[in-house]
Amino acid sequence: SQKYTAFPQVDLPNRQWPSQTIKTAPRWLSTDLRDGNQSIIDPMDAVKKNRFFDLLVEIGVKEIEVGFPSAGATEFDFIQGLVRSGRVPDDVTLQVLTQSREDLIRTSFESLDGAKSATVHLYNAVSPAWRDIVFRMSKEEVLQIARDGARIMREEAAKRPETDWHFQYSPETFSTAELDFSIAVCEAVMEILQPTPEKPIILNLPATVEAATPNIYADQIEYFCRNLPNRDAAIISLHTHNDRGTGVAAAELGLMAGADRVEGCLFGNGERTGNCCLVTVALNMYTQGVDPGLDFSDIDRVIETVEFCNQIPVHERHPYGGELVFTAFSGSHQDAIKKGFAAHDTQNDEKWRVPYLPIDPADLGRDYEAVIRVNSQSGKGGFAWVLEQHQGLKLPKAMQANFSKHVQHLADDLGRELDAADIWSAFQSAYHVQ
Ligand code: KIV
Ligand code: ZN
Repeated sequence: SQKYTAFPQVDLPNRQWPSQTIKTAPRWLSTDLRDGNQSIIDPMDAVKKNRFFDLLVEIGVKEIEVGFPSAGATEFDFIQGLVRSGRVPDDVTLQVLTQSREDLIRTSFESLDGAKSATVHLYNAVSPAWRDIVFRMSKEEVLQIARDGARIMREEAAKRPETDWHFQYSPETFSTAELDFSIAVCEAVMEILQPTPEKPIILNLPATVEAATPNIYADQIEYFCRNLPNRDAAIISLHTHNDRGTGVAAAELGLMAGADRVEGCLFGNGERTGNCCLVTVALNMYTQGVDPGLDFSDIDRVIETVEFCNQIPVHERHPYGGELVFTAFSGSHQDAIKKGFAAHDTQNDEKWRVPYLPIDPADLGRDYEAVIRVNSQSGKGGFAWVLEQHQGLKLPKAMQANFSKHVQHLADDLGRELDAADIWSAFQSAYHVQ
């Protein structure tokens, strides 16, 4: 990560800065197999869930929410199967989600029977709209639901001492609830579960439906962290959705506001507009010189598995992963990139400074082939680069200008992008080369 640093590329005159940056990687939780899975048209079967799980382990995710065991036999059996499979590495903690109802909590613990290390994630909604419209309950009643759930969690965990149990509580709809009420509910749960700095509780603070600009969410996180009694006994976790298109920004600002952990899904799958995209948050960090602790060095393989499991394509313009995000068709961009690559090679630049490319595609396992592509909008730099890469041919400037007309005509005639073979055969026929 020495290759990347935010500061030479960003300038903010007259400010004491950096105002705030993310300095270390957070703990990551993938909820692809739970929040992601519950939002797709055809939920994953065990084959897909297992494949996704193995991918997450390979990437380096250490906390994985594997499902909602009380939702039905498919979920329960998958989780039990996974626990029994011996495929869960010792440093990976499985997590399951449960509503705060006695039978559901008990089933959730049963699903994890035999696990080495596991987190049971309890939630209930706390905001006024849910209290008034969905449950028709008072604040005290909502608080009591959380207390009752915590008590059953404590009981169930005590019955199974062979597992290293962790507890997570989410005041669902946190970002649209009264902050002091959320704190009071979390405090009540903590009183029952008695976390310590050595064995903290995870308090996960969801923007269940994103409802404000991301700085507001961050302010809420900061307020929560400052006012939660016994803050040292809690890991503060962020769980953002993307309804306003700022799920990633909210998570980043939430980290700067004091949180410790980020929940999300690869490429932002999840309910409605999705969960926070873990790939984007992690690689944003990477390009600021902070090691995220997640490995995306073969991003195409990650995409292939995610697309297979979710049956949703990753958008061509998705940050870092999209097929077109490192591609330039336009002449001026191609020219600048070409110069950037040349400077990078000749000056042996340690820092990444290639114009228009925020990251070295090679860091994600992408080759430079796809960076410069030629269509009717491309300039001389484009085809010259392709000929140089594929045929080892360095065209003199005057010849580039001449050949450019042939390329332009061909692209217009064919009405499509030109590949290396098209360009080479155009060159052969223009200059009678065999
Ligand atoms: O978005 C949400 O609030 C959730 C909770 C269950 C954590 O997914
Ligand atoms: Zn969610």
